[in-house]
This record gives sequence, C-alpha cells and structure tokens, in this order.
Amino acid sequence: MNYGYFDDDAREYVITNPRTPVKWINYVGTLAFGGFVDHTGGAFICKGDPALNRITRYIPQLPASEFKGETLYLRFPQGHGYKVFSPYFVPTLDPYDRYECHVGLGYTRIVSEFYGIRTQVTIFVPLGESRLIRDIEITNLSGKPVEVDAIPVVEYTHFDALKQFTNADWVPQTMQSRVRRETDGLMVLTQYAFMRRSVAVNYLTSNHPVSSFESDRARFLGDHEYGTWANPLSLQEPELGNYEALRGDNMAALLHHLGKLLPGDTKRLITYLGQEPDIEQALPRIQAFREEARVDQAFEDLASFWDRYLGKIQVRTPDADMDRMLNIHNPRQCYVTKQWSRYLSLYQPGFGARGIGFRDSSQDVLGVMAHVPEEGRQLIEKLLGVQRCDGSAMHQFNPLTMIADEGDSREVEGAPRFYGDDHLWIILAVAAYLKETDDLAFLNTVIPYYEKDKQGNPSGAGTVLEHMRQAIEFTHDSVGAHGLPLLGFADWNDTVNLAAGAESLFCANLYGKALLEMIDLDRHLGNDEMVARYSACYEEMKAHFDERAWDGEWYVRYFDADGQPLGSRANIKGQIYANGQSWPVISGFASPERATRALHALYSRLNTRNGIKLSAPGYDGYDPAVGGISTYPPGAKENGGIFLHANPWAIIAEALLGNGERAFQYYAQINPAAKNDRIEEFECEPYVYPQNMLGDEHPQFGLARNSWLTGTASWAYQAATQYILGIRPIYDGLRIDPCIPAGWDGFRIRREFRAAVYEIEVQNPDHVSKGVHRVTVDGRQIKGNLVPVLARGQTHHVQAIMGR
Ligand code: NOJ
Repeated sequence: MNYGYFDDDAREYVITNPRTPVKWINYVGTLAFGGFVDHTGGAFICKGDPALNRITRYIPQLPASEFKGETLYLRFPQGHGYKVFSPYFVPTLDPYDRYECHVGLGYTRIVSEFYGIRTQVTIFVPLGESRLIRDIEITNLSGKPVEVDAIPVVEYTHFDALKQFTNADWVPQTMQSRVRRETDGLMVLTQYAFMRRSVAVNYLTSNHPVSSFESDRARFLGDHEYGTWANPLSLQEPELGNYEALRGDNMAALLHHLGKLLPGDTKRLITYLGQEPDIEQALPRIQAFREEARVDQAFEDLASFWDRYLGKIQVRTPDADMDRMLNIHNPRQCYVTKQWSRYLSLYQPGFGARGIGFRDSSQDVLGVMAHVPEEGRQLIEKLLGVQRCDGSAMHQFNPLTMIADEGDSREVEGAPRFYGDDHLWIILAVAAYLKETDDLAFLNTVIPYYEKDKQGNPSGAGTVLEHMRQAIEFTHDSVGAHGLPLLGFADWNDTVNLAAGAESLFCANLYGKALLEMIDLDRHLGNDEMVARYSACYEEMKAHFDERAWDGEWYVRYFDADGQPLGSRANIKGQIYANGQSWPVISGFASPERATRALHALYSRLNTRNGIKLSAPGYDGYDPAVGGISTYPPGAKENGGIFLHANPWAIIAEALLGNGERAFQYYAQINPAAKNDRIEEFECEPYVYPQNMLGDEHPQFGLARNSWLTGTASWAYQAATQYILGIRPIYDGLRIDPCIPAGWDGFRIRREFRAAVYEIEVQNPDHVSKGVHRVTVDGRQIKGNLVPVLARGQTHHVQAIMGR
C-alpha cells in the first residue's frame, strides 16, 4: 500500500490517499506565529507560545475523521437544500475523484476533485507575518454551470491551552466574538477571551464579500449539537445566523456566495486567520493582504527563503533517497526542530510541560549551523541565559516568559535537580557556530546566568567563553565514587533515573568531546594555559573511563549509587546500550581495539533491519530503582526501542573508524524516504525522521511514532554531511574526509562556507571507503585534506581523489 510519492523537482512529498495510518503533518510559520497543518486541512496554530497563546482547538487524540482547528466547506444547491462537502475530505468524508496533499517547504497545498469541482488550497504563513493564509481556487470541471458557496471554518480554543480542558465554566463564560463589517460586504470576524480583548484578538477574514456568518458552535452544528461537523445543519439554510457569541464554544464561519461558475471557470478566494493586539490598528495591513498580488509575492518570498536556505548545501550521491533527504527534507526538518524544539507537534501538544529544551535545542542548533548561523547564534544566546552560575543548566524554558524549570526531576522527591549532560551540549553548539562563521567576537558577549536576586535582576553574568568554561567546571567538580560524572536526574537518556550518587559513562564521553572542543578553541585563540588544563582534564577522565568502563566485550553505561554497573553482562535486563558503545569512539576515549569490539557488540546485539535499538534486553515490568525506562513495555521507546536519535552517533563512530559500508548501512536503514513502500509497518510521514520505532522485542516491530521534533534530524544531517560525505567545517577551513561505501565512484557536494561557494567533487577510482590522497583547489594541488578559507564571493572548485 502506497500513500504518496516524492516530487523532488517541486521539493514536495505528495500524499495521494487521505487515509494515512496517522495524520501526516507539515509546519507553517514559526513559533512567533504558526504551527502545523495536517494533510486533511486541520491546523494547530499559536502565537508565541502554544501553552499560553493558543488559537485553534486541535486535539490530536480525536479520531482522524474529525476536523481539527480549521476546515473548509463547499456547497451547491441540490434538491431542496445543498450538497455540502469538504475539499479536504475531512470532516464530510465524501468520495473523491482526486485527492492530493502536497507537503511543501513551509506550505501545504491540497488539490481535490469532488462532484466535478476541483479545489486547490495553498496554506502558508508569510515570512514574518501573524496570519495563516488559505489561497483557494475553485474550478468547475463538471461541464455544466454550478452555483458554489464557500464556508471557511475555524474552531477556537481558549488562549490558555490547559484551562480549556480544566475549567469548563470559566472558559466558556469568557469567550466572545464580534463582527466588524467593512465596505463592499467584506468582514472581519473577531474572537477573544474577555480579559484579553484589548491585547490579543483572533480573527478570520477573507478577500471576498461575506453574506452571513456564525461564531457559535452550537448554532452552526444545530439541534443542540446533535448536528455534526460531517453534516452541520446550518449549512442547509440559505444563510448563517449572524450570531455574535458572547460566551460558549467560539468558532468562525464565513459564508461566501461565489456565484455561478460556468464550465471551466475558476474563482479565487483567500482567507486569513490571524491574531493582532488591536484590529483597528492592524486593519491597513489586513486590507493590504487582501490583494492577490500581495499574497503571490508572499508565497514567492517564502520560496526564496527556502532556495537560500537549502542552497547552502546540495549533494549528488549514488543514492536517490539520500539525495532527497539531504537536499530537501532533512535540512527542512532541522529548521523545524530549531524553531519548535519539542514544544508543538502531533505528539507533543504544547501544553507547557516541555517548552524549549536546553539539551534538545543545543543539539538542534547543530543541524542549522551551515544554513542560518545567525539564527543559531540567537538561540544559543537564549540557551546560555538559562545556564546557572555553577555551570549546570535549567532543563527547559518557556519561550515567552523565559521562565525555566528543572524538567521531570521536579516530579521525584529528593531527586537531583540537574541533568548530567545538559550544560555540556552548549559547548558543541558554540563551537559549531564559531567554526562555521569565525565570529570569535561572540565569545566576548556578556550573558546573564539564570539565577535572579530579590529584585529579579540576574545574580551573575559571564561572557560566552566563561559560560563554556563554567559548564566544563561543573562536570569536572561533580563526579562520583569512580571519578566519573554524576548522572544527576538523568543524562541524555531521560528515562534512566537512578538514586543520587549514580555515575554516567555517557556524561564522561560527552565531557570528553566537550573538552576536545575547548582544546581546539583555546588552541585557535592561543590560550596555551587553558589548552594544557583541558588536556589534563581530558587525560584524567580518559584514565577513569579506561579503568572502569570496559565490561569484557563492550562498555557499561552507568554505575548506580552502590557502584553496580548498568549496561553490563552482569545485568539481566538492559545489558548493553548503544550510546555506551558509540560515544567512547566520538570522545576518543576508546582504544582502537576496544572501539572495534564495542562497535561490533553494538552491531551484533542491537542492530535490526529497521535501525539500532537503544538498549537490550528490555525491562519487563516497572522497577522504581531504574525509573522511566521500565514504564515502557520491552521494545518501546528507550526500553529497547529503536530510538532514532542515537543511530547517527553509531554512524559517526563507524565513519571515524573508517567503516564506510557499516556507516552507510546504518544511515540507509533509518532513512524515512526508504520507508515509502512500507507505510503499513512504519505508519508515519516518510519525509521526516520520527523519534522512535518499536524494536524487535515488540510485536509491532517497525512502527514509528513522534515524527518531526526529534534530535534525529540534526544528527542524521551531521552524520551524513560531515562524516559519510565528510565535509567538516573547522576553524581553518573545510576538512574533506569522507567515509563511504567502497562501491561508490564518488559524489559531489556544493557547500557555501564563509561567503564563498565550494563546488566539491570527490572521486573514488580505487573504490576505498576512506582516505583522500590528493586535493586540488581551483586546479592547484594542496597539501593534505584541509581546504583553507577561500576568497569570499567566489565559486571555487575542489577536487578530492580518494585512494590508498
Ligand atoms: C526525548 C527528549 O526530548 C530528549 O531530551 C532525550 O534526550 C531523549 N528523549 C532520550 O531520552
């Protein structure tokens, strides 16, 4: 069963069957205004924050057949009433002659044909605007004239997303709608919560006269809501009730008579869902956007943004699925995760429990650095603002209020209030920014730490470089009985929550990697003293690691507070962890011999045809001593599931060791594009990485969930571009160090770097996996494989020949 196909030229995925196993979504706009649109037209929209300023009511848990947030009805006269249908298929579920949902870059376009009427709706948020546009074209294909009415519909939520569900008296008593009629029958139908009527007003409007409207759900559906969204009784009347709701479940419906469409005629109607502090003041801009040319321009501007964004790296490899992910969908997903962290998706419904995650966003930033380094830097600045004076980090924060908290650790009495890894990730993020841009002045930017005094002023501040040094010091000083870093509430694996005093080998390796970055940076800055200090810290941790972590065939993952290992042969469950094996290679702590053996153990004990499991065997029952991991059945999520985020780390480790076949195997086996023919098993969107798939201990092996907002996007992108294709920015230029399947003849990559274009051609005449023995730049051979920073504003041709 196939639900669609990739249209690489249009840079779209086209869904051709609306009955996908779960909703497939696409993101529009940004956190400033936007959200996601599902493939049947539903929309989850907020402004600034989904928890505290949510606009549409989108409840993912409702059945797929129910409309969510926003929809469109069309109707034409039939018998004594009307034939009413939705061109989005949902919620009327009429039989269609054609259905296509084009998942594009920042837009979704739904094209459908029902009853001889073709509808094309392009849905997007213009760059920098607070309005969701639906650009609707309706064409009569029927061969006879037809009178068409169009009724766009929005269902609102209270701005406080949780209150909507927790207070069914206060919320409906405060929800109100008002109409603002303009000349020529144009109309703005507003909606607000009473307390915010002068600060945040939602509205639905269009560029066409409106003959009547409805703002009360009960009246729209009719018969005390025994009318349904599939068959709203009010749509059988010639006009809607023109009712301005003063309470209740608010919605907006605008009835447009588009008139008679002769055969072949097309009518264009554009609708706008937005929010403004003051509608009167916003009116000129609302009116300006009613011009079709303005909307066309906004759509072109959006396309130009993506041209520029994607143009920074384009590849041509022997693998079509790799190309479509690296040229389009993977960098797109990286931008989306950078925007939304883990805050708003079909699976993470933005009620405020998550916000912007410190560790998550520090890693997301790595995935956009080649494309929008300035945006990366801005996010880094925000993240550094929630770092504590002692160098540790608050786990997450609300993007509107900048109030941070300690994540799930708050829920467990007596648990440590820090995560052992959070603060270390930001070092990788800053280093990536500096290598991409060489903007060393950023290191001197002063940013306050999170703690505040009684007056609410920051208790301390430091330069970016000081923040980085503090992060190192925190881990340096927070070690347990073996001299290894304390776990805190958890490390990257949120679900292993051991009693205070436990140590994390993951944190040891992340600390090692962070130290390597600091050594590199201080060397670049000429700080010899700090190079010496960090080198000593590195050697010290490496020695502890060498001494304690090897279990005979692989590395253990934790020591609990009693010094007992987890992720060891000595355990019955959770004997081996994937990160336990890949990270010692990434940190450089593993000796060549142990690195090979550890990666072999990872392959033989954790790899499946669908990807690498995070650990095995899965815990089979809740055990408070290990915490969250044992709340899942074996094979699900962190408990033996295929947690995709950790897969690229194995790719990177294999590439560092020179195993091009294995690195590519790991890459290809989780490539969502390659799942397009296996959707019955996979279920999620084949154009983005999901967070997890069920592992082989679970009967539904291969089933994916939690698509879009996952660190898999950033790391898969880095693994592919920087380690398989091997083009790595460093302080002094671009390192060319591919690790590819020996069967490849080579590949090409276009990389913009420090305002110059590098057209890189890698040839592999000897069919090796690793090793570049000759590099020419603009026809001249250079020494080694480091292409220096070249003249700005120019295109340079780099040829790299691999061989023994
Ligand atoms: C998802 C969380 O967002 C992320 O922070 C964590 O590292 C992974 N789960 C693994 O537990």
